[in-house]
Amino acid sequence: MKLEGKTAIITGAAAGIGAASAALFAREGAKIVAVDIDRERLDQVSDQIQKAGGACLAVTADVSKRDHVQNAIRSATEKFGRVDILFNNAGIVPAGKVETISEEQWDRAMAINVKSLYLFCHEVIPKFRAQGGGVILNTASATALRAVVDRACYTATKAAVVGLTKSMALDCVRDNIRVNCLCPGTVDTPSLAQRLAAFPDPAEARKNFIARQPMGRFGTAEEIAQAALYLVSPASEFVTGVAFAIDGGLGI
Ligand SMILES: NC(=O)c1ccc[n+]([C@@H]2O[C@H](COP(=O)([O-])OP(=O)(O)OC[C@H]3O[C@@H](n4cnc5c(N)ncnc54)[C@H](O)[C@@H]3O)[C@@H](O)[C@H]2O)c1
Repeated sequence: MKLEGKTAIITGAAAGIGAASAALFAREGAKIVAVDIDRERLDQVSDQIQKAGGACLAVTADVSKRDHVQNAIRSATEKFGRVDILFNNAGIVPAGKVETISEEQWDRAMAINVKSLYLFCHEVIPKFRAQGGGVILNTASATALRAVVDRACYTATKAAVVGLTKSMALDCVRDNIRVNCLCPGTVDTPSLAQRLAAFPDPAEARKNFIARQPMGRFGTAEEIAQAALYLVSPASEFVTGVAFAIDGGLGI
């Protein structure tokens, strides 16, 4: 029970890395505030956690909208009394080179992948300061550390997540607030399935993606959730401001 008595807000909790983290954190004793724009899948995640004996509040929200974010934090505090862990994980993966991506796609990705961190942290950090501490974890990407083709905007958003993580970590270092980010490699989640489906031959694309992986396989959402658990738990109390690569050797 590494998170006994803690309350964790997890965004993007309806699928992939967020859903796996919500299930794992709940098994480790945390009360979960699962936030996502997809109500149907969010309810499934929340039901599963509760059936397994955990506590979970599902909050539908678009993480790029200030009033949605404020409502999510307010709901969390009303239900569980306080928030100890904020896991900013929701994100989208726009494909494209800088000359092909539209301004609308650019603004949307910046809003969901970057501005959402500002909105959540802007609200939560003062609460963490007032209560004597807290933990923030953000999901960046291996692409923030090493570019891949056709992901210019996505790479820019995730590099911003790394930069913001480090800035916030430094600004909060004396306040018992730790801020870290994960840099996952290619992980087998619904988002990856969507990306592969956009290729003329998705099965062939899957083979090509796997061939690029040093370990010859994708990561799993559960493997990323285990890294997330370490970074939000007291086991990592001396760790702040890191961009933690969990990428099967992609960054070597
Ligand atoms: N899968 C990968 O290969 C991979 C690699 C590196 C980083 N990441 C990052 O990991 C995070 C999770 O990705 P995943 O692969 O689990 O994706 P996923 O698509 O499986 O899950 C993402 C979740 O975020 C939610 N979401 C999207 N926009 C939202 C919004 N505006 N408001 C609230 N919720 C919203 C979706 O509904 C979905 O449930 C993302 O930040 C992604 O960029 C993924």
